[in-house]
Amino acid sequence: MTLRVGVLGCGVVGGGLIELLSQRGEQLGLSLQRVAVRDQTRPRREVPHGVPIGTVEEVIRDDAIDVVVELIGGLDHAYAAIRQALERKKAVVTANKAVVSAHGDELRALAAHVQVGFRYEASVAGCLPIVEILENDLIFDRVDRLIGILNGTCNFILSRCSQGSLQYAEALREAQLNGFAEADPTLDVSGADTAQKLAILVTLLSGGSCAPERVSTTGIDSIAKEDHLAAEELGYVIKLLALYRRGDRHQVRVAPTLVPKSSAVGLTVEEYNAVEVECSHIGWQLYLGKGAGRMPTASAVLHDLVRIREGAARVSRSNAPLTLASPGSWTAPWLLRIPREISVASLGARLAGTGVDVSELRRSKHDSVGTLILTQEASADAIAKAQDALTVDNPASSRPVAFAVEPEA
Ligand code: HSE
Repeated sequence: MTLRVGVLGCGVVGGGLIELLSQRGEQLGLSLQRVAVRDQTRPRREVPHGVPIGTVEEVIRDDAIDVVVELIGGLDHAYAAIRQALERKKAVVTANKAVVSAHGDELRALAAHVQVGFRYEASVAGCLPIVEILENDLIFDRVDRLIGILNGTCNFILSRCSQGSLQYAEALREAQLNGFAEADPTLDVSGADTAQKLAILVTLLSGGSCAPERVSTTGIDSIAKEDHLAAEELGYVIKLLALYRRGDRHQVRVAPTLVPKSSAVGLTVEEYNAVEVECSHIGWQLYLGKGAGRMPTASAVLHDLVRIREGAARVSRSNAPLTLASPGSWTAPWLLRIPREISVASLGARLAGTGVDVSELRRSKHDSVGTLILTQEASADAIAKAQDALTVDNPASSRPVAFAVEPEA
């Protein structure tokens, strides 16, 4: 049986998918029937001769299409298109993390009700099959912790800036030119894209539902050159991490975090993504690969099409909202960077009563970096108190910067 495919969107990923379908579709039992694009006046060389190009509605209403691939991006229009396709009993594949993180429970239920496939491997971590792994393949075990680099754009920017080869704005521009960044790159650098992806993974691994707005999120847009220098001096590198810890209350967090330079996530550079999961029986597993860009993402879509053609079964999940811990209860050792000199006596006096103990204090070898303090394990709430206590005179220039440290898995 050949699966007849309609594609909505012919941008970076849509164009890549059409290229893959032209090269390998016949061999894989997939045939491209119709493509929808926003601007129908533009020539589309990637669409093979004879394949009609039209509107989203034409693809969804085409009875000769079995599966609709949504690659138009955005939220409302894409959500409406996916719903309509499912209501017409067409299977759906999407790379849209905004839609899956906001409406995944409802769309999974609708797909199950009409008994068609709904797959979204490309919505998280590009070519890594992490959705399938968490949804089906690790069902025999329980995931207790997850550490992820889930945004190729941020990882690319942080890698380039930490190596000192590019400034933030140049690195972002290069990520955009490479097709890694979102149409609005604020979604990448604010951490919102990572929070959406983490919410999808946590919903799958916990069996409860986690909306992206509930993930405590900090982006990479205010990381200074001095922060990279401080991390380097201590043997660390800054990564935008997506973090999950199981507990009576589940903990979820997205934040720039210090990791050892030689750890698996520390060595994950450029647009590569990494996901480490700790399971209660089998221990740690690491998945690593390209998390953004044309072919890594298009290949994940192709993977889903093949799985739908095979009639792959899904494990069903409950969707009660997850009980989350407060962001302030996150515990870790921390780096506090104070942009000035401070004596041991003054440090002790200021930290008294904050619940933060110092494990190392040193003056940076770079004058502009200031004083570096590594703390013992402390909560985010206690660290905020310590930041207040160490802020003197002019808060804008003297407030210490804090980064949690995530030890090697
Ligand atoms: N903008 C996203 C990223 C694309 O950089 O990871 C892939 O989801």
